[in-house]
Amino acid sequence: MDYFKIQGGDPLQGTVRAAGAKNAVLPILAAALLTDGTLRIPNSPKLRDVRTLSTLLEAMGCRVQREDSGAIEITADGDILWEATWEQVRQMRASICVLGPLVGRFGRAKVSLPGGCVFGVRPIDMHLKGLAALGADMRIEAGFVEASVPGGRLRGGEVFLGTPAGPTVTGTMNVLMAATLAEGRSVIHGAACEPEVGDLVDCLVAMGAKIEGKGSPTLEIQGVEQLGGAEHHVIPDRIEAGTYLMAGAITGSRVRVEGCVPAHLWAPLDALQRAGYEFEIGTDWVEILPRRQRPLPVDVTTQPFPGFPTDLQAQMMALMSLADGTSVITDRIYPDRYMHLPELLRLGARIRRQGSTAIIEGVESLSGAPVTASDLRASAALVLAGLVARGSTSVHRVYHIDRGYERIDEALAGLGARIERLEEA
Ligand code: EPZ
Repeated sequence: MDYFKIQGGDPLQGTVRAAGAKNAVLPILAAALLTDGTLRIPNSPKLRDVRTLSTLLEAMGCRVQREDSGAIEITADGDILWEATWEQVRQMRASICVLGPLVGRFGRAKVSLPGGCVFGVRPIDMHLKGLAALGADMRIEAGFVEASVPGGRLRGGEVFLGTPAGPTVTGTMNVLMAATLAEGRSVIHGAACEPEVGDLVDCLVAMGAKIEGKGSPTLEIQGVEQLGGAEHHVIPDRIEAGTYLMAGAITGSRVRVEGCVPAHLWAPLDALQRAGYEFEIGTDWVEILPRRQRPLPVDVTTQPFPGFPTDLQAQMMALMSLADGTSVITDRIYPDRYMHLPELLRLGARIRRQGSTAIIEGVESLSGAPVTASDLRASAALVLAGLVARGSTSVHRVYHIDRGYERIDEALAGLGARIERLEEA
């Protein structure tokens, strides 16, 4: 297993380029199951999660071609197994995105329940509710979701997918994908408005789907007989872009992120501006300007898009660990998403947790130490803290971070950070 060794204290300087969005490319890869045509994604990011899902799709009978550039082509034109096993799904929750396409195209699916993850219960009740509203018989048996459609083809339906924590992103995606091949009209109320959902809409429309309401909480789908192949460029990864801007913030440096969509970043940019940072913003780039003083304390509550994203909560907590005052962070999406908190304490942060809220009393400086990554975004937060902690920080189990960031160590080293990837003895 690899780990990162980081020597803290160096300012960063330079430009990084945002890769294609992980949370857009994963459902879009699953959408290839909806057609016997070829789906080509020229700018797929080179991520562990993309490889994991590609392996699952190949095991189901899809033909997958990956190029060195990251470009990927998927064709589901042979005998497709409409089953995803526990071994396959447990590796990555997003595998649940094959459920909707399988039910929509084949009228059958047997997909292992994904189970929880380190930051809490991740139910899929809304995925099942939505597919049932389209006429599928959904049942849970021996740890699997089993779906079958009387007569073999879904019929259009109307459903509200809101949850106590707001809309469900992959739940919206699963029901949307299934509805594209249902007979008649479907309406999804309380749909997630994340940019990644909009990117999936664009891809499905390019494949021949009829969808209205992109970016709104109400998606209207007119089912079609079949979908075809397409070529689709995924949107840039707003969480990766936000993570690199926070790397600039925590080190007080000038860092430019190119190939991103500023409109996907207003909430994190607003939080950073309230923390005292200034920016230059272009059509497809954002540059954070150097800041000598400590960040100002900022209160943040995570929300569905366009609110502050839960996927940047851990990174913001790392930054607020050094604020000149006390900050309050509440995660309304995942109340238990605080695996990074005890590791930040090891670096000298002063943070107290009360349920879904963390109170961060900023300190002058952090001191480097060995820490352990636990999930994708918590890992990123620990790397950010290591960039500024006095002395050396080693971040262990970095396979978590490789799931969602293309070689983050190389990108940060390119900005001047002293970070190297080493192999555990
Ligand atoms: C997506 O997960 C993202 N993953 C997550 O990113 C992200 O944190 C999350 O959305 C929230 O933005 C992908 O897109 C692959 P949800 P998803 O369904 O779809 C509750 C990362 O780091 N809920 O939007 O699984 C749920 O408990 C990952 O890249 C139900 O109650 O999340 C949560 O509180 C981590 N019933 C809220 O909704 C359901 O059936 C949002 O969950 C589904 C969800």
